[in-house]
Amino acid sequence: MDGRDLVRSVRMVGSVQGMRTVRSAWRHRRADARALAPRGVERARVPGLLLGAEPEPGGGVVRFARSRLRIRVAVGGALFWSWDGAQASPSYALAGDEPEPDGRARLEPDKNGGWQVVSERLTVVVSRHGAVELRTPGGVLLRRELPPRWWEPVDGGAARWVQRSEVPADARFFGLGGRAGGPRLREGTYRLWNTDPGGRFGPGDDPLYLTMPVQVVVSDAGTHLAFHDNTWSGGVTLREGEEGAGSGHDRPGACEVRMDGGPLRCWVVVGTPARVLQGWTALTGAPALPPSWALGPQHARWGFGSEQEVRRIVSGYLERGLPLSALHLDIDHFDAHQVFTVDQERFPGLPRLAKELREEGVRLVSIVDPAVRASAGNAVFDSGREVGPRGAFVRDPQGVPVLGEVWPGACVYPDFTDPLVRRWWGTLYEERLGQGFSGVWHDMNEPVSFSAFGDPSLPLSSRHSLEGRGGDHREAHNVYALAMARAGYEGLRRLRPEERPFLFSRSGWAGMQRYGGTWSGDVATGWPGLRASLALVLGLGLCGVPYSGPDVGGFDGSPSPELYLRWFQLGAFMPLFRTHAAVDAGRREPWEFGPEVLAHAGRALAERERLRPYFVTLAQLARLTGAPYVRPVWWGASADRELRDCEDAFLLGDALLVAPVLEEGGVRRPVRLPRGRWYDTVTGQAYEGPGRVVVEAPLSRIPVLARAGAVIPVRGPEGRLELEVWAPPVGRTGGGLVVRDAGDGWERAEVERYTSRLRAGRVVVERDGEEGLVTCPVRVRGLAEPDQR
Ligand code: NOJ
Repeated sequence: MDGRDLVRSVRMVGSVQGMRTVRSAWRHRRADARALAPRGVERARVPGLLLGAEPEPGGGVVRFARSRLRIRVAVGGALFWSWDGAQASPSYALAGDEPEPDGRARLEPDKNGGWQVVSERLTVVVSRHGAVELRTPGGVLLRRELPPRWWEPVDGGAARWVQRSEVPADARFFGLGGRAGGPRLREGTYRLWNTDPGGRFGPGDDPLYLTMPVQVVVSDAGTHLAFHDNTWSGGVTLREGEEGAGSGHDRPGACEVRMDGGPLRCWVVVGTPARVLQGWTALTGAPALPPSWALGPQHARWGFGSEQEVRRIVSGYLERGLPLSALHLDIDHFDAHQVFTVDQERFPGLPRLAKELREEGVRLVSIVDPAVRASAGNAVFDSGREVGPRGAFVRDPQGVPVLGEVWPGACVYPDFTDPLVRRWWGTLYEERLGQGFSGVWHDMNEPVSFSAFGDPSLPLSSRHSLEGRGGDHREAHNVYALAMARAGYEGLRRLRPEERPFLFSRSGWAGMQRYGGTWSGDVATGWPGLRASLALVLGLGLCGVPYSGPDVGGFDGSPSPELYLRWFQLGAFMPLFRTHAAVDAGRREPWEFGPEVLAHAGRALAERERLRPYFVTLAQLARLTGAPYVRPVWWGASADRELRDCEDAFLLGDALLVAPVLEEGGVRRPVRLPRGRWYDTVTGQAYEGPGRVVVEAPLSRIPVLARAGAVIPVRGPEGRLELEVWAPPVGRTGGGLVVRDAGDGWERAEVERYTSRLRAGRVVVERDGEEGLVTCPVRVRGLAEPDQR
């Protein structure tokens, strides 16, 4: 029992579930002790000396005394390498079939007695001992993989392995899923095991709900993403390098990936950040496009408690003229916390309520938990038992369904790694649609089983289908939520084919963007929690999951009016803009914090609404290119080291730089600008980057700067689309892309390309090179600066 366990057990034993979580923890521990033999004697292995090589399309196989290395460059430039003959498929991360090999990339001997594959974007050099170097076409080192090492149990079973790598001394690490301590990942070990921290979390808590073995490494030499395609538990230890560390020599950055089993295989995508995300989402799938309404302001709470309260909250927004797109119902609207049910006493007319709210422009979103109360008479439990030859629920090695403890009491867990189970689960969303819900919010899907000690999940020995291959929870745990998201997404598509599903999920894994987004989970109320909120959104975006956002105001307790407001102002620029709080937390409605906060929150809401066409464009661009809406400030300038270390601001698309206030009492703040001219969008003041400037951040707003030349689609008076154009500097052109809102179906989006330039002191905006093709009103800003004429 470690410190985290102790805190958890004290909290739980005193809670409603009390002794049941203790019993459940013991049961799980006993199950594993019975079914999983302790690791016995192991034999260590390294690849040994190089023996020879056989070319294959896109690369080839290099043979060593005790292993083989496969290298394949795919069309589009992604590199795949693996040891011990591992293939790229099957994979939970890949969106479809493996990409075709690039026939132009060939395996050939190199001058040092090793082998190399030269491709358009990358040269891969294999040494005689099995080190693999990735170099740019100009020969600059991006990453050096040292020969791996395996530990194989002599009496069979999964081999553990470790792979160490070096990266340039100036490199910075990002990614690994949602990490509260990010976005820049400093020295330390980051566990790969989706985990409910069991209450609120802050920047020091790791791991959290959504981990993935995806590293984004940014250095002067370039940016690359390395994905170890392995779902087992493991860890990544990072150490940033140091230039001129010892007698003037650089100490390279280091990264060590350790896995408790599973294949040693890796995909690497290189290029600019934009190319890397494009390549990554080409491999793992385009991000699902949220329906347009999901880009508006949303409000949630655990514990609205009744239809009357829901009406009161919605009226609170509408009567004050505050926009609201959706309201989320948590587990308290279920009958005794059971998924796919409704408490008929407190919510007697949910479909009617949903219809009335919809007429006022407000949708309802429902929480969906995976755990099903294990009692006959529960319709989901009963129907799940009839699925396939063995029922839908995860079983132990003896074939008995595994029990866990969640909100409804003793529960069973659907095995989403079974295609039949996914299909069955997908049909259950019909009930949600029938109740009038427009979207779903997947929760507790790490999956959680409340536990007074030990891992708050299923026993490691639990059996899963793993698409028919069979395996245990050690392999299935990290993809449980991903497979649940697939079940939900595909189910909703089948049930309502004309609408894009709206789904976001607390846990997930590489590729989850295909089905939807995510959110922060139970982020602690406090200034560190606010900072962690931004870290999570930035880090997840770099892992290919562009749609996410925090619990605005923090999950627990009561934020001070100032903290609430600063969180709200940040949230207004996040893809998922949603207030949420725990059942015992203070209120989160904007009018609960006094008239000043209400006025300023109203302004943030109005700005979000004004920028809705820009959010629609960013959502479409994320789908088309993988570029997240919320990007680190180094996105377009990854060679700028100062920007790489900047963690307190972000780019919203190409056009805006948002500098939230993350400290108590802050009313001005330093902002590090990328190259070019930037305008304060409120004062119009122009600044020249690169460099550091100090900007005003009064309580009424957080600083937002626009890139000179940017063309931004905004909602003008009467809801008409307008182009807001920030004057480009003399002799420079600017521009922007616009994708119009085509509703909530599957219409193909058309990307409109605009350019802006100064001609004789006038800002000229063209579409596809012609002024006449610009059909919407254009509002020019930033021209007042005398130095631009
Ligand atoms: C945990 C989730 O993270 C939180 O958002 C939710 O309110 C509670 N579960 C209750 O469903």
